[in-house]
Amino acid sequence: MRIAHLSDLHAEGTNASHRAVRNVVESIADSSVDHLIITGDLTNGGRDEEYEEVIDVLKAFKYIDAARLTVVPGNHDLFNCVFRYFSQDDWPPELLQGGKLLSKMYRVITELRDFQDSDYRDAIETFNDVFRKSLRGTISVVNGNPGGYPRLKFLSRNLVLVLLDSNYWIPTVYFSPSLENVSRILRTMNPGGNVLCCNGWLEGNDVLTVFDSPKLKSKTIIVLLHHYLYSQATVAKHWSYFHAQNFGLGSEDEYCRDELCSLLSRYRVDLALHGHLHTTDSYHVHHGRVKVLNGGGWRSVRKWNMIDTENGRVRTRVNSW
Ligand SMILES: [Fe+2]
Repeated sequence: MRIAHLSDLHAEGTNASHRAVRNVVESIADSSVDHLIITGDLTNGGRDEEYEEVIDVLKAFKYIDAARLTVVPGNHDLFNCVFRYFSQDDWPPELLQGGKLLSKMYRVITELRDFQDSDYRDAIETFNDVFRKSLRGTISVVNGNPGGYPRLKFLSRNLVLVLLDSNYWIPTVYFSPSLENVSRILRTMNPGGNVLCCNGWLEGNDVLTVFDSPKLKSKTIIVLLHHYLYSQATVAKHWSYFHAQNFGLGSEDEYCRDELCSLLSRYRVDLALHGHLHTTDSYHVHHGRVKVLNGGGWRSVRKWNMIDTENGRVRTRVNSW
C-alpha cells in the first residue's frame, strides 16, 4: 500500500489558498497514492469556508472516504476562537510587534477567558462531522474522551493507524483583559496558560490503554498526532526558544513528550507522523528506536512524505512537487 502524509494545509477559504491545497493533493493523486493522511491544521481557523475548501479539493481527487483518507485534528482546527482573527502569517512575527494587533488580541483574550471544555467538544464534533466519511469504521478505544479519540483504523488486516488528538489543553487566562495586560501577555506569552493554544497535551493512561489493546498485537502500527516529538532542546536550537516554549507537547507536571516516545518504543510502533512545525523532516526518537516523519506545511514547503508498506515493512521517502 502506498500512503502519502502531509500536514498543516491551513486552508483559508481564499483563491490562493484553494490553489495551493489543490496543487499538493493533485501531486499526490498523480503518484498513485492509495491513502492520504493529514495530521492536523487542515484549516487556519476552523471556519466553514475553510473546511469547505479542503473538502472540495479532497473530493475532486477522490480522497474523501475511510479507505482513502485519514485525518487528525490540529490546534488551528479546534481553537478557532483564537485563529479566526489571524491569518497564519501573523503568527508569531507580527504578534511580537504588538501595536496594530492589540485590538485583535483584546478580542482573543476576551473570548479565551470564557473558553471551556464544552467549546472544545463542540469544535471537535464539528471536525468529526466534516470528516465523517473518513472516520467511518474507526474504533474508539477509550470511552468519554472529546470526539472519541484515541481511535484505531485498520487499513488492512495487518496495518493499523492510531489516531490521537494531541490538542486537549484548554487555555487559561490569568489576567483581566485590559489593554495593558494584553500588552503584557504579548511580551511574556504566558506559556503555562497555553494562551496561544499552540501547546499540546495527551492523557497518558488513554494512550497506554490504546497500546495495550489486543487488536494491535503483531500489527504494523502507524501513530498519527498533530504535535511534534522533537525534544525541547532541539526545537530551541533549530527553530527558536519561543517555539520550544509555546508549541510543544506536554508541560512540566503533565503527561509529556518523553513518556510518549518511551511508549512508542516499548510497543514497537513502526512509524509516527505529525505536523505543527511546518517542515518536512524524518528523524528518530528514544535512542533511535522509533522513526518519525514531520509532514511540512503548504505555504513554505513543496514536499510530502511517501510511505510504502509491504509484508510488515515500512519504507519512507520525501516527494517534491
Ligand atoms: Fe499546529
